[in-house]
Amino acid sequence: MAQKIRVAVLYGGKSGEHEVSLQSAASVIRHLDRGRFDVVPVSIDKTGLWQLNDLNTIEQTAGSALPIRRNAPEVRLAAQPDGRGALLPVDGAIPGVRDIDVFFPVMHGPLCEDGAIQGLFDLTDVAYVGSGVLASAVSMDKDVAKRLALQAGLPIAPYVTLKRRDYESDPADCIEAARAKLSLPVFVKPCNMGSSVGVHKVKSWDQLKAALDDAFRYDLKILIEQGIDAREVEVAVLEDEPLFVSVASEINPDPRHEFYSYEAKYLDKDGAAVDLPARIDDVAMARVRVLAAQAFAVLECSGLARVDFFLDRKSGEFYFNEINTLPGFTSISMYPKMMEASGVPYPELLTRLINLALDRHRQRHSLLRDYAP
Ligand SMILES: Nc1ncnc2c1ncn2[C@@H]1O[C@H](COP(=O)(O)OP(=O)(O)O)[C@@H](O)[C@H]1O
Ligand SMILES: [Mg+2]
Repeated sequence: MAQKIRVAVLYGGKSGEHEVSLQSAASVIRHLDRGRFDVVPVSIDKTGLWQLNDLNTIEQTAGSALPIRRNAPEVRLAAQPDGRGALLPVDGAIPGVRDIDVFFPVMHGPLCEDGAIQGLFDLTDVAYVGSGVLASAVSMDKDVAKRLALQAGLPIAPYVTLKRRDYESDPADCIEAARAKLSLPVFVKPCNMGSSVGVHKVKSWDQLKAALDDAFRYDLKILIEQGIDAREVEVAVLEDEPLFVSVASEINPDPRHEFYSYEAKYLDKDGAAVDLPARIDDVAMARVRVLAAQAFAVLECSGLARVDFFLDRKSGEFYFNEINTLPGFTSISMYPKMMEASGVPYPELLTRLINLALDRHRQRHSLLRDYAP
């Protein structure tokens, strides 16, 4: 039998979405095909400490979220000359793990999904699942992603961006500029977050300042966006030739929540109802799937992405809202569910993502890295 592919699953992370990652990774580890893969669990705590975990211990705990263990040995990522990676002990007390074929960052949010960790993987010259530095970074920045999407002809909701320095020097002027361009309600959101952290629906202008102050706790750049009376429609995309695009689903946040907030997403088990497939007509379904593929392509994504749209209840128009290059992977997350509903079961999805990562790494390795005229 062929040798198993060694996969290091990274979870946790120095991010506001640390807890979500612990759930996503529990699910990924459970679904990885053990006939093919040798799984190495690596946690990253909230201070950024990498620790090697024991798979058996993790499997015995079998909860819906992986634990971060204080006493697990600290490791660092190291390159091997053969293009694989190693996780070496920091204090030499354990042997560490070598010959890691591929890294699977099952983490969300800044530093995890925005190109930072992807840059570390590139510097170490190892294979990893998902988008590279460029796509991760531009997709994470809601402003840059929308600008690129707009340029490719995808409709977006009107918005203004605000830098913290400008806001601090003249808040009244900044608020005035937003009022001139947008009408209520508006949404205030940090440019580089996720899971609705720091997102506010503003229904009267005198609430705007408090919303901005809060959003600026999370980011140096924020968006003030035109609120749309919209249905929320999502599509999962998997890299293939041509791209594999799932059926769309619709998220219906419970009316008790003003919008699809952090509470509705993670704390309230009845926070939202899902329609999979979305109850939209065939024309709308076809349209949103095309838009999702366009977004994936224009943002130069690799591997996977979940693309989120607003469907304007009045005009019937779709607006590109955001793209997630490392979408949630919990057992109830939309990305794996949409893929499953489209004929790609969770374990097969993981296998395909890992094969794509290995293939991309091989292709990049075939490039010349020096120049001899
Ligand atoms: N322009 C908007 N119009 C209506 N609802 C919005 C708008 N922007 C955000 N929302 C609501 O806020 C939620 C979170 O915003 P989103 O931009 O998706 O950020 P995140 O990356 O945190 O998910 C959305 O799912 C939606 O419910
Ligand atoms: Mg969102």
